[in-house]
Parts: sequence; C-alpha cells; structure tokens
Amino acid sequence: MIDSYTEQFILTDIPNLHKIEIYEQNGGYGALRKALGMAPDAVTDEVKKSNLRGRGGACFPTGLKWTFMPKQSEKPKYICANGDESEPGTFKDRQIFEFSPHVFIEGSLIAAYAMGVQFVYVYIRGEYAKWIKLLQAAVDDAYSKGYIGKKILGSGFSTEMQIYRGAGAYICGEESSLMNSLEGGRGYPRVKPPFPAQFGVWGNPTTINNIETLSNVPMILNRGWEFYSKIGAPKHPGPLLYGISGHVNKPGVFELPTGVLLTDLIYKCCGGVKGNKKIKAVIPGGSSTMWLRGEEIEGVKMDADSLKAVGTSIGTAGVIVMDEDTDVIKVLARISHFYHHESCGQCTPCREGTGWMEKILHRFLDGEGTMQDIDLLLDVANNIEGNTICALGDAAAWPVQSVIKKFRGEFEARAKKTPMVSKYVKPPHLVELKTA
Ligand SMILES: Cc1cc2nc3c(=O)[nH]c(=O)nc-3n(C[C@H](O)[C@H](O)[C@H](O)COP(=O)(O)O)c2cc1C
Repeated sequence: MIDSYTEQFILTDIPNLHKIEIYEQNGGYGALRKALGMAPDAVTDEVKKSNLRGRGGACFPTGLKWTFMPKQSEKPKYICANGDESEPGTFKDRQIFEFSPHVFIEGSLIAAYAMGVQFVYVYIRGEYAKWIKLLQAAVDDAYSKGYIGKKILGSGFSTEMQIYRGAGAYICGEESSLMNSLEGGRGYPRVKPPFPAQFGVWGNPTTINNIETLSNVPMILNRGWEFYSKIGAPKHPGPLLYGISGHVNKPGVFELPTGVLLTDLIYKCCGGVKGNKKIKAVIPGGSSTMWLRGEEIEGVKMDADSLKAVGTSIGTAGVIVMDEDTDVIKVLARISHFYHHESCGQCTPCREGTGWMEKILHRFLDGEGTMQDIDLLLDVANNIEGNTICALGDAAAWPVQSVIKKFRGEFEARAKKTPMVSKYVKPPHLVELKTA
C-alpha cells in the first residue's frame, strides 16, 4: 500500500460493514439524518462546493448536475443510479454493492432529498446476479429501519428505491439508453437535448449518477465540503476506487485519493508486474481511454487534468497493465470486437465502422494486413469519432487511434511488404465502352 494514505471512506477495513447494524454502529445514516435537518438547496450546495465529479467516466461536476433538476415540478422526479458497469477493465461498483452497500444507499437518499426525488432506480447489469442479491438485502434492511419509504426518519420526506436488472448490454450504461431500457424499450441512446433533467424516465425530470459518485456523498455531509475538497487533486478531489487488472502481481480495487502516481498503483498497490517484466502499455481509465506507452507512465498522476495533459483520460479509473510480451494488435482486436458486438446499431458510423475496424485488425493478425490498411484503419476510426448520438462510437475509436499513434511500428512490422494490388476489376461493360 501507499504509506501516507491511511483513511478509507467507501471501502473501509471495517468487517461486515454490509450489515446495517455494523454500518449504523460506525456512524452510518448519520449523514442522512444531518441532511434531513438542512434545506435541500443547502445539501446541493455542500456537494457543489466539495467539487465532487462523476465517477461514471465523464467527470461531470455532481452538484452542478443536481441543480439542473427543476425545483418545482408537477411531475414526479427520479434518480437513476447507474450500476451497469460494463466497460472492460472496470469492476469497482460491484465492490461497493458487496462490501459497503449502505454507503451507496445513504448517498442516494441524500441526493433524493436534495433534489426532491420521489423514486430512486438502481440499474444493474444482469450478469451481476450475486451483487443484485446483496444490494437487495441491504435495501430491504434500510426499508425495515425506516431509512427508505414514507416519512423517512420522521421527516416530511418520502422516497422509494427499486433495483432494476438490465439484460447485459454495455450500451445500457449510457444514460439515455439506460432510461429507455428501464422503460421497457430497446436500449437506444436518445438525441439530446432534451436532457434528462427536463425529459428523463417516462418524460419526467431525472438525474443519472454513477454508484461510486453517490457513495461519496455521505462523507461530504459528515466531514464537510472543505475537508472533501482538500483530498487528492484540487480540481478533481476525493477518494477514488482504482481497479487495476492485467499483468500485475496483485490485481484489485484500491481506494486512494485522486491524483496518486500511476506507478505507485502498479508497484506499491499491486506488487509490480508479473515476472518483473517491463511495462509495454497501460490503459488508464477503462477500455475506452487512450493508451500510454510504458515509457510514458513515469510521473503521471491519476486525476482528470493530469491524464488530459498526457493525451488520455481518467474514465472509470480502470487501469489495465500490459507487459513487454503483449501483442498490442491482438489486444486491440479483442477490444474492437467488444465495441463491434456492443454497438446498438442506431448510428451508421458506429454500426458499420466498428465492424470494419475489427476486420482490418484481424487482417493484421492473419498476416494479410498491408501498409495502406494502417491508414485505412485510422481513417475509419476518425470517421466514427464525434459522428454518433452517444459516446460509444468515441469509445471504440479512441483505443484504435491511440494504438496506431503509439505503436505504429508494430503494424508496419506485421504488414505485408508487397504493395497492395487492387482487387478492383473493371466490369466488362465499362471495358467495352472504352474500346468502343
Ligand atoms: C457506452 C457507454 C456506457 C456507459 N456505461 C456506464 C456505466 O456502466 N456506468 C456509469 O456510471 N456510467 C456509464 N456511462 C456514462 C453515463 O452515460 C453517465 O455519464 C454517468 O452514469 C453519469 O454519472 P456520473 O455523473 O455520476 O459519472 C456510459 C457511457 C457510455 C457512452
């Protein structure tokens, strides 16, 4: 571990914290009690001042998002807590469901109070059967103790909470697809505007927040925004759940402040690379983020601005480490297969382009790729980026663009050295026309 960081807030060492009595004995639901004694706007203000930013990938300021919800509304208001967690390399929300479900439930209830929400949906991917069961048990306990339901803790505030099980589709983690799926429709992203705060679930005002984002809220209320805003990177503060996988000795999820060194995560938290091998590449924030070469990671800090400065992003802080023996084209082909498989098919550049990228990458794996294919692959990626309704297209294009940029030599070494011969054969009628 990293010696100077000792305090954990979400995934603590307290045994059996998933049990409501243990959570209560450790101050659990105290933040909800405190929030209920404040004006709803004051709660939002506290979150706004803390500078908490969303942990679902886009780093959007949470307090600001809450202010988009209409204060007065004749329609019911909703929260959709996003536990779809389908991005390869991302496996942190399920730790919360398993080890600290009440910190998430408490955070959601505080958010509901702040925004005047009457119903909280928790959308979880279907494959998470075990974690759905664990969270359901915690929700049931919170209901039985009066933390969820009518007139919570004797206050005038009431809200319900229900888990909705998805059918296992990456696209349903995108907030507008999530809402369509929740309504029983196909998980197609919606064109924005209107934004969810105006026209969300069943056309009602809705806020979508990630599970980890909401799990940060109790500590902001307990310790105050000033304390929170001083943890980690000033513009992207707070504790962060880093999920590290790949060729490391001890993969896992580690709660540390934002802004820790990437090398500290790999060497101090995960015990370094298997077999003491060198690092060839690192994906810092889940499969959709731009890759870094092994030589580039020294001194890189894990927060939104630091990663932006080196041409990538924090995403979901799902770090994937690849050692010196990794076939990067093979890894990229596997990632591209994922995006092709998961494209919902609504937008042509993504529906067609993800398949083309996968095919070209397989040409390289089969020894059939050419020098021209490298630029063709880049061209396809560039034509997907920014040309789709949702960011799945960008998520598919970014890894391809970055691997070509960082590892072009690997493509060139694999490309057939013979110049590409055009397979185009003039149709006979055109040949006839020319000779006529
Ligand atoms: C294809 C795609 C998949 C996504 N999957 C997830 C997901 O599994 N969980 C999540 O919280 N956000 C996911 N997002 C981001 C959400 O659309 C949204 O930004 C997020 O849930 C907002 O929560 P936050 O502000 O708390 O980060 C995904 C986005 C895209 C484009």
